[in-house]
Amino acid sequence: MSEKRIVLKNCEVIDPRHITTYLTRDGFRALEKAQKEMTPEEIIEEVKASGLRGRGGAGFPCGLKWELARNAPGDEKYVICNADEGEVGTFKDRYILQNDPFTLIEGIAIAAHAIGAKQGYIYLRAEYHHLLDSLVNAIDQAKERGFLQHVDIDIREGAGAYVCGEESALMDSIEGKRGEVRYRPPFPPTKGLWGKPTIINNVETLMNIPQIILNGASWFNQIGTERSKGTKVFSVSGDVKRPGVYELVLGTRLKELVEELALAEKVKMVQVGGATGRLVPYDMIDTALSFETILGAGAITVFDQSRDVIDIVYRTMEFLAEESCGKCAPCREGTEAMVEILGRFFRSEGMEKDIRVLEELSSAMMLSSLCGLGQAAPIPVTDSLQYFRNDYENRIK
Ligand SMILES: Cc1cc2nc3c(=O)[nH]c(=O)nc-3n(C[C@H](O)[C@H](O)[C@H](O)COP(=O)(O)O)c2cc1C
Repeated sequence: MSEKRIVLKNCEVIDPRHITTYLTRDGFRALEKAQKEMTPEEIIEEVKASGLRGRGGAGFPCGLKWELARNAPGDEKYVICNADEGEVGTFKDRYILQNDPFTLIEGIAIAAHAIGAKQGYIYLRAEYHHLLDSLVNAIDQAKERGFLQHVDIDIREGAGAYVCGEESALMDSIEGKRGEVRYRPPFPPTKGLWGKPTIINNVETLMNIPQIILNGASWFNQIGTERSKGTKVFSVSGDVKRPGVYELVLGTRLKELVEELALAEKVKMVQVGGATGRLVPYDMIDTALSFETILGAGAITVFDQSRDVIDIVYRTMEFLAEESCGKCAPCREGTEAMVEILGRFFRSEGMEKDIRVLEELSSAMMLSSLCGLGQAAPIPVTDSLQYFRNDYENRIK
């Protein structure tokens, strides 16, 4: 089992402080090709044909998003790179920003050219403030070399809120407002930042763009599974001997990543996709990692047999309740109610009816919350009730 480095191709190879090493490895050749040999429509067609889907969690087709923004009326459009990386257990975007800012800048520049945006923003997680200077340095060098004549790229720093990684709250945050989710529709490609057409893409999504443009959609298309093209960068942590960032072809089995690469032993379960991700018990560890099965933003947190599932779910829910933006009642009240109930199980004071309440509350939150936070917050609860029900029943007073 080995890695396939497409997104991470330049990481720990180039010098992220100097553009020259990037230029020797085809740096900015894709942008040149996109500007000189392709129309914006052709770029979008290429991205669509590649099958690239968003790497930030939701898996929305990238080319389709760009097309909607390109076709939306108006001269003022924006590209936003989502570098908030607030998901619990994710650190792959940090690794990319640290080691290869130039590919990201090239990806943003191509996206801006394709949709007709003159301004791009990188929304940087507050905790990544230490990366600010090196990102500014990389942008300045690209500008000095004349690669950013069609677009300005600026950085906006977050203030430490998980929900600001959610695209509509992120735009409110850039606009200087309190980060709260927006009602949708309208969606960002038609009405986004300051009401203008906007595309928001994850760091890793944009990292794929230069190579898709240079090597063509059919090259990219051959990698991965039917509905999950390319590779995925995973952040692996928890009870493993070799935690870290791994890039694998989509469709690789969870078992290979966790046991063969990260060297986990005596696994009880794996949380795939962070706080609101799926819980995979060990007997399902052969599951493939893809959009068709399980994926999220690629956070892989491994728990061995010494871990208590109720403890994990309880703490996760405490985090989500703390981070709920509070705009909609199902999420604001639902996460708090779940913390209260899970707390009872944690203290072995659960009641028979609590399990039913957890199930009913879960489906209400999934159906009626405004954004992905509240909609997905119940997942650890429903998954643990499905796979580790005994752990709950044993804690009924
Ligand atoms: C609560 C919440 C937090 C999110 N945090 C992030 C994040 O940190 N980074 C990210 O790229 N997407 C995050 N997303 C997903 C974004 O809303 C959006 O789908 C994504 O940035 C789109 O980019 P992509 O299509 O390239 O994946 C989050 C979503 C939710 C509901």
